[in-house]
Amino acid sequence: MGVAEPVHFLRETFQNFRTTGAVAPSSRFLGSAMVRAFPKRGQAPADFRVLEVGPGTGPFTKQIVKRLGGRGRLDLWEISPLFVECLQKRFKKEKVFRETTTKLHLNLGDIMQLPAKPTYDFIVSGLPFNNFTPHEVEGFLEHFRKLMKPGGHLTYFEYVAVRKIQKPFVGKARRDRIAGIEKVVDRFAKAYQVRSELVPINIPPARVRHLCFQP
Ligand SMILES: C[S@@+](CC[C@H](N)C(=O)[O-])C[C@H]1O[C@@H](n2cnc3c(N)ncnc32)[C@H](O)[C@@H]1O
Repeated sequence: MGVAEPVHFLRETFQNFRTTGAVAPSSRFLGSAMVRAFPKRGQAPADFRVLEVGPGTGPFTKQIVKRLGGRGRLDLWEISPLFVECLQKRFKKEKVFRETTTKLHLNLGDIMQLPAKPTYDFIVSGLPFNNFTPHEVEGFLEHFRKLMKPGGHLTYFEYVAVRKIQKPFVGKARRDRIAGIEKVVDRFAKAYQVRSELVPINIPPARVRHLCFQP
């Protein structure tokens, strides 16, 4: 990661905390965990389709592209124009992006605009669920389920214990919102989660959840 990415990230955090939901780009340890369930490097089928939601400055994008090893196609959906600009620059500048034969399609916009057809083998989501309402979180997870080919895999992360730490210090409305998010996340985990892992080296530490949408 260059020096520009953390600066862009902080600027976006101050301007749009609700959608950014973090103070720094994710660590490479979290990035590795996010692609752990991918096919081994270069072994994805040629028509392998990946969707990255909320790539930010691109810490997961780099790991996804490396892991695809020139195969398949990666669609990215990012709501922040600043982050899209940052990614466009990285795609032009960095060898890993310049030289890949994986097709990269970067879209500026809300992921909910993407028509919900079963398209993807793998979805990597960086969305900050804790900043949304339970209804919105449910909407995102349902949308991902509909975008998935049968047996497709979703990986997303949550900051560890953030909801538990917040609970005693916030008002009732916020506590109810947090409890509502937990309910939605637990329901999806019960139905589809195949694995979860803790990544301590990240600001703040994170838990990665792997969900498999069996037909
Ligand atoms: C917690 S940041 C994660 C950024 C990056 N993946 C990382 O780990 O450093 C959340 C990202 O989701 C993006 N985002 C939030 N809501 C979105 C939406 N509805 N559609 C697409 N991107 C969204 C934000 O702009 C931001 O880049």
